Amino acid sequence: MSDRSQLISAGKPFQYDKKRDAEFERLVKRYPSRESMILPALWLIQEQEGWISQEAIAYVADRIGTFASKVYEAVTFYTMYQLHPMGRNHICVCRTLSCWLRGKQEIVDYLKTEVGIIPGQISEDGKFSLEEVECLGHCGTAPVVQVNGEFYENMDVDKLKSLLATLK
Ligand code: FES
Repeated sequence: MSDRSQLISAGKPFQYDKKRDAEFERLVKRYPSRESMILPALWLIQEQEGWISQEAIAYVADRIGTFASKVYEAVTFYTMYQLHPMGRNHICVCRTLSCWLRGKQEIVDYLKTEVGIIPGQISEDGKFSLEEVECLGHCGTAPVVQVNGEFYENMDVDKLKSLLATLK
């Protein structure tokens, strides 16, 4: 999951679904130029597919009316964009100092032994993917885990276990 220069093909063309298509059209009116829509347009893809494929980048470039290289620059620079298929539930565990000191490794170890994933992997059933990330900005309530974009603070193995049981 660390090489951000390689794009992956989804093996099929991409297009926004109805909901994202309408959202794109709503947002584009609020931006000073179509090119300034690159980041929100990428978010819409990630929201729809969970990750951003080569085909989706070409789609956004076309839709915005810019070069694919401009979209490529943005998508490979910002690490919040996922460039590979993810599990249905993407788990980010902070590995920076406060979280490291306050037990992030127990969480990672639990995910390895009980869910069968290490950072960079997707579980066999496609339900979970795991990534270790840098500081999530909530150091005072470490350790911090982010699941599908939601923050969970003062996390421990028991809380994680309960949380995972609620996810589909
Ligand atoms: S060190 Fe983990 S949130 Fe800052």
